[in-house]
Amino acid sequence: MTERRIDKVRLGTEGPEVGVQGLGCMGMSEFYGDTDEAAARDTLEAALEAGVTLLDTADMYGNGANEEFLRPFLAAHRDEITLATKFSVVRDAADASFRGISNDPAYIRGAVDASLRRLGVDVIDLYYMHRRDPAVPLAESVGAMAELVRAGKVRHLGLSEVTGAELREAHAVHPIAALQSEWSLFSRSVERSAVGAAAGLGVALVPYSPLGRGFLTGAFADAAELPENDFRRHQVRFTGDAAAANAALLEPVRKIAAAHGATLAQIALAWVQQRAEVHGLPVVPIPGTRSRGRLEENVAATRITLTQDELALLEPIAGQVVGDRYPDMSSTSDSRE
Ligand SMILES: NC(=O)c1ccc[n+]([C@@H]2O[C@H](COP(=O)([O-])OP(=O)(O)OC[C@H]3O[C@@H](n4cnc5c(N)ncnc54)[C@H](OP(=O)(O)O)[C@@H]3O)[C@@H](O)[C@H]2O)c1
Repeated sequence: MTERRIDKVRLGTEGPEVGVQGLGCMGMSEFYGDTDEAAARDTLEAALEAGVTLLDTADMYGNGANEEFLRPFLAAHRDEITLATKFSVVRDAADASFRGISNDPAYIRGAVDASLRRLGVDVIDLYYMHRRDPAVPLAESVGAMAELVRAGKVRHLGLSEVTGAELREAHAVHPIAALQSEWSLFSRSVERSAVGAAAGLGVALVPYSPLGRGFLTGAFADAAELPENDFRRHQVRFTGDAAAANAALLEPVRKIAAAHGATLAQIALAWVQQRAEVHGLPVVPIPGTRSRGRLEENVAATRITLTQDELALLEPIAGQVVGDRYPDMSSTSDSRE
């Protein structure tokens, strides 16, 4: 059991109140090697006990399987959970291969109904556009998302991997509660424009992969050691010479962790939390884990405060990282700014 429940924060000026740390559920179904359903279910229970109320999924995780996996938990705890899911990454129904990105209004209307069905709920608390398709005007897509709010299928809107300019454009169509983008000691491009725009608009930041997909925890030094079905094997920064160079960047994290009697994961999470304070916006990182022990370890990071000297030691890390954060960067916000 964790010592006590974590504090709460509001997502956006009119959004829901959630625990200051959420839980990424993606790895419970796909991307990070084999999964253990019983352990994953126990992790969901541990989250609730700790006050971690924001659960993050997407229709593309396991090609629908991750939403279906959450269904029994939601049936038991619907009112205690803020449920976030996403649309736009299109996969083949038969073989799950990636077919592209759709922000088309007709596609969005179909996607939300499919998610509601798989999740077994009447309404999604936070519905994100997962990736931007620049072929469709943003106002059209956000307009279609706003219709879902009016229809009672969705409570609040979010965007993922958008630039600051895109966030402003969308917010003018309908209030955006949260921006979900990668933000960690290794990935700080979101600080170029999106974080400032979010702070100005009162939009909360939901950093994904705050543990650098596990690399920042020291749990693996080269993705070549991971199983064949692990997506990280295809990420340049986690393999070969790049991984060796990047592992060396963790030295200050290790030193600070030792000083706090903490783990590397906890220092990485505390850094995101404090970095958001510098920018003056609410933040709810969603570290992904499939184990109760790690969930409790991650939650305990909310009680760590790094000193100014420690923050200064961590400051240069991101600028020295070797390798992009995706094998193909074309659908990230980086590619549009
Ligand atoms: N919007 C987007 O485009 C997008 C993209 C990627 C992810 N996401 C969302 O963000 C969530 C989090 O991102 P992520 O899962 O990619 O990366 P992450 O949270 O940075 O790292 C997850 C990895 O770290 C491991 N881990 C977790 N806690 C740990 C600890 N205390 N010590 C050692 N290892 C630990 C996990 O393994 P175990 O599971 O074995 O503990 C997993 O392999 C996802 O679940 C998903 O919901 C969104």
